[in-house]
Amino acid sequence: MTATASDSLNIREILGAPFTLPCGVTLPNRIIKAAMTEQLADARFQPTEELIRLYERWGQGGTAVHLTGNVMVDRRSLEGPRNVAVEDERDLPQLRTWAERAQANGAQLWMQISHPGRQTPSRVSSEIVAPSVVPLKGYGPLFRAPRALDAGEIEPLIERFVTTAAIAREAGFGGVQIHSAHGYLLSQFLSPRTNLRTDEWGGSLENRMRFLLETVRRTRQAVGSGYPISVKLNSADFQRGGFSEEESMLVVHALEREGVDLLEISGGNYENPMMIQRGEVAGSGRESTRLREAFYLAYAEKVRAQTPMPLMLTGGLRTAATMASIVAQNKVDFVGLARPLAIDPDFSRKLLDGTLSSALPVNVRLGVRQLDDMLQSMWYQQQMLRMGKGLEPDLKVSRLVSLCKGLYNVLGARSGRAD
Ligand SMILES: Cc1cc2nc3c(=O)[nH]c(=O)nc-3n(C[C@H](O)[C@H](O)[C@H](O)COP(=O)(O)O)c2cc1C
Repeated sequence: MTATASDSLNIREILGAPFTLPCGVTLPNRIIKAAMTEQLADARFQPTEELIRLYERWGQGGTAVHLTGNVMVDRRSLEGPRNVAVEDERDLPQLRTWAERAQANGAQLWMQISHPGRQTPSRVSSEIVAPSVVPLKGYGPLFRAPRALDAGEIEPLIERFVTTAAIAREAGFGGVQIHSAHGYLLSQFLSPRTNLRTDEWGGSLENRMRFLLETVRRTRQAVGSGYPISVKLNSADFQRGGFSEEESMLVVHALEREGVDLLEISGGNYENPMMIQRGEVAGSGRESTRLREAFYLAYAEKVRAQTPMPLMLTGGLRTAATMASIVAQNKVDFVGLARPLAIDPDFSRKLLDGTLSSALPVNVRLGVRQLDDMLQSMWYQQQMLRMGKGLEPDLKVSRLVSLCKGLYNVLGARSGRAD
């Protein structure tokens, strides 16, 4: 949908306004590309030319910051086949090239740093660890039960996050994001459903959030006060006995005390993938549609009322009207876009210059829920692969073929390794 002249003026003023983070770094506008796992690393878990080219292409599209897909802190524990993993300085040359080419046109590249915990397909990881032995439900033999981390393994794991962040900074990335949402390891520590520990890392919320807070605190010490640190956090897991909105709010206060520069709000996990189950059809801009579009807006508003920490809202945002209205009303500072940028790398620029007023509607469904949840990632990954090959996205890419290719990649994957 195209925008009228007065609409586009407002949208440019609102979404095009610069914003200075608490660390002092100024971002040129309010649109951030949310993380999407690209699975385009090489056999050594380093960025390939395809991955770099993808970000070079995105870097031309007017988005202020590109968050990378989750980069692993341990090559034995991957979220998917062909993840980038950064453990030490051997990766610096490729990471430097990635950062340089992605940022050549003024956009920033921030590294999302992650560990999957139990959310790793059995074929993909040689080491499946989690706070406790709570197997993932609903995926059959694709996922194996994790092993509970020994108390002595937790400190070194925190240090892995810190090392990866320090290397990202050294390589020239503009910032880092610690992934504590969507049921990955840090989010597993937060949730009483997956964290049944009775030591200092489990039980009370204070204990369950210790992993996250220690990671943020030590990362800050490692990267310094002038460097952006973001955290992606679930508003809730939306599961009985899981991480609740009330607890999430307490974590928000604790993160504020740690000096986080940008809190990205999301929700859901693999058992209940709220983050990608909706959001394919653009709305009309009406209030009811707006609420449907911005999945976690009601929670974001509550957070806003309680903390001055800059906020980014991700999930379902599709129309310029909704994005501009939530920023203009000071509900959040940044809008996060994932899928719309995988099918149109120039979407941000088009929103800002008024060429487009909403994302292209797409329907990536085959009609079988469990398959469709996986297909969401796999179809969009095919679009990222196209851009990595120097092609433009193509809405006609077959759903069935994407699913088959995605499953083949997972089932044919060799495990991550230690060396
Ligand atoms: C292909 C794909 C890969 C994703 N990978 C990640 C990831 O690596 N890290 C993450 O935090 N979220 C990931 N997400 C979730 C997105 O960041 C985002 O929260 C979600 O897609 C909702 O935003 P959207 O409606 O704008 O797509 C992924 C989503 C998709 C579609």
